[in-house]
Amino acid sequence: MPAQDYDYGMIGLGTMGRNLVYNMCDHGYSVAGFDKDVEKVNELGKEAGGRKIFGASRLEDFIAALKSPKVIMLLVPAGKAVDAVIAELRPLLSKDDLIMDCGNSHFTDTDLRTAQLANEQMKFMGVGISGGEYGARYGPSIMPGGAKEAYERVAPMLKAVSAKVDNEPCVAWLGPGSAGHYVKMVHNGIEYGLMQLIGEAYQLLKECLDISNDDLHKVFSKWNEGRLRSYLIEITADIFVQNDDLTDNRLIDMILDRSKQNGTGQWTSESAMGLYLPIPVIDASVSARDLSALKDERVAAQKMLQWHRVVFRGNDSELIDWLENALYFSMITAYAQGMSLLLRASQEYKYDLKLAEVARIWRGGCIIRSALLEDIFSAYSDDPALANLMVNKELALKLEQCQDGFRLAIKIAVDTGVPIPAMMASVAYFDAYRSGWLPANLIQAQRDYFGAHTYERVDRKGIFHTQWDQKQQ
Ligand code: 6PG
Repeated sequence: MPAQDYDYGMIGLGTMGRNLVYNMCDHGYSVAGFDKDVEKVNELGKEAGGRKIFGASRLEDFIAALKSPKVIMLLVPAGKAVDAVIAELRPLLSKDDLIMDCGNSHFTDTDLRTAQLANEQMKFMGVGISGGEYGARYGPSIMPGGAKEAYERVAPMLKAVSAKVDNEPCVAWLGPGSAGHYVKMVHNGIEYGLMQLIGEAYQLLKECLDISNDDLHKVFSKWNEGRLRSYLIEITADIFVQNDDLTDNRLIDMILDRSKQNGTGQWTSESAMGLYLPIPVIDASVSARDLSALKDERVAAQKMLQWHRVVFRGNDSELIDWLENALYFSMITAYAQGMSLLLRASQEYKYDLKLAEVARIWRGGCIIRSALLEDIFSAYSDDPALANLMVNKELALKLEQCQDGFRLAIKIAVDTGVPIPAMMASVAYFDAYRSGWLPANLIQAQRDYFGAHTYERVDRKGIFHTQWDQKQQ
């Protein structure tokens, strides 16, 4: 058994953990991997080739193999599993050893764990990693948070294994405590938004135009050559031409329309609500997944509520063009909402996030990478305190250029009864954000009327209450 010979430890040898180990080894690091599942340990060995990898299914062997001070990465499911691993590790670790939780942990858990381990002078970092299996293997976007000194220790390795854009690594220290996991959570919230928006464009195309999967492939491929260029549009184009192994159909038509979720989108919405920060596109996208899960109810309701729907009789290419505008517009608002949440959370939790850095490291490796992130990077480089992306001059111009097409696409959806909750949330967010006046005066009047909740006035400072001329109940 090798003694204190390995640079890094990896706990959790599932798809992400195993591929990250190979990636690290390809960059010259030796890695000991641990998993209780012997099969996974064996699998790690199978593809190891000449790389310096040691696999263990006993925690003591794994720990003994690591150089000190030890750096141990965790890629285990968020929640109880992370606490269970830390509890087992604690008696085996010493001062200055570092644990990096690289899963999708809730940021409040990360803060708790950081504080608990600090009591024993051990270091803990919450590190977001995005990019799925391929990213883990060939270069993910990495979002580390925690003590800066701890980051400095692992920065050369993280830079080496991360994705590169213009030769720059898609990794940066984001801030103290749970900053990394917070940013990863919001990344996923935006991911939910973009995926739902794409899904809505798909449904409109499918139901209005009766379009084939081959033509959907062509539409999305063409979109991917222009300003919508992004990983999610690219894989969407691919998905339409994937054949099913079990039937003669395309796989997309054989997949049940009930989406699952691991919680990060919901957490983003919960956190935003807690901070009184509106992110309606992301909220609508989480709700859309919840609605999709009500499959049986939807099927029953479809039979009962099948009233007259307007049939689309317009021009196919015109609708495709409007939808391209719709996607571009609404994607900008999805990013705008995510970034504004980061700005608010950074103030609240003292992360001191640099939003240009966040945009920079999202340009490569991660699921939400897109051409738009170049504009977002420029916007925050020009103005680090930008309140909202929609008021950046260049992006405002882009919104203006495509809002007519977006509104036309929405009208088609309303007339034909195709649900587009995230797109509608997007246009409503835009219209509300650019409204110098909103009907909140009436809300305040109602609150004061029925509950004496008071209101402010437009013409003088202070808090006011009126004895309203109440109708008899
Ligand atoms: C990533 C992904 C990754 C995971 C999502 C899926 O950035 O690589 O976001 O973290 O695929 O968590 O989330 P849902 O299961 O909630 O859709």
